[in-house]
Amino acid sequence: MADCLKTGRFDWLLRSQELLPPGAAGLFWRKVERRADRIPLGYVLGNQPFLGVSLRVGPGVLVPRPSTEDLVSSAIGLLKSEGPLPSRILDIGTGSGAIAIALAKSFPEARVVATDIAAAALRTARLNARAAGLKNIRILQEDLRRPPAGEKPWADLVISNPPYIPTAEIASLEPEVRREPRRALDGGPDGLDAIARVIGRAARCLKIKGLVALEMGFGQAERVRCLLRRQGFLDVKVIKDSEGLDRIALARRGAR
Ligand SMILES: C[S@@+](CC[C@H](N)C(=O)[O-])C[C@H]1O[C@@H](n2cnc3c(N)ncnc32)[C@H](O)[C@@H]1O
Repeated sequence: MADCLKTGRFDWLLRSQELLPPGAAGLFWRKVERRADRIPLGYVLGNQPFLGVSLRVGPGVLVPRPSTEDLVSSAIGLLKSEGPLPSRILDIGTGSGAIAIALAKSFPEARVVATDIAAAALRTARLNARAAGLKNIRILQEDLRRPPAGEKPWADLVISNPPYIPTAEIASLEPEVRREPRRALDGGPDGLDAIARVIGRAARCLKIKGLVALEMGFGQAERVRCLLRRQGFLDVKVIKDSEGLDRIALARRGAR
């Protein structure tokens, strides 16, 4: 109802004695019906808040989650407390642009490169970056299975919320989640295909002591820790999200 009245989530309660403007009731019930059809709330409303920014979302783009806010906050917290402040950031699999936009706002001096394979994601991320008035983001189409050849270390932070759900588990997800793009969810047989590729890319493009920050699935922490160590990462930290689950990995690029 707050969305139909274009008011805050709690403000509309204060106006509960007022008559609804023409059309608002019809609009409200149409949204309720779509939600009852198990369409994700973000798609019904067309937007999703992420760390204080309202992002446009819709079919073809993953609705950003609170665990990803925790990923971004953990990375920002570590960079602000231990340094160095990043001047070049890479967000792999940007979707709606949520991570890249939050970082571009937190580090206005930094240049952020955000990549995705999906055309719908790239379109949405560009719209969201423009709506946020950000000039320090470049959004590029890139397939993480085909990383740039001969890349030299250039980034201070590589961050990603890659697809990490094991293929066999997709069919048992809630119907809302299955309406989101399969490509945003499916991490291959053990869920680690994309995570391993992101770690490989981070190992090549991060400067020494550069930070890699990853979201992962519940139960993947030990395998992600091994993948990071095998690629020469140090100071591997596994951090709990706000639900108390080990869903975030942070690590520093060691000397080559
Ligand atoms: C879990 S979603 C994360 C979206 C966004 N970063 C967020 O946190 O809300 C994973 C993203 O990776 C993208 N992706 C999947 N396979 C990819 C590939 N081979 N190359 C590049 N991006 C890919 C998807 O299109 C999707 O946007």
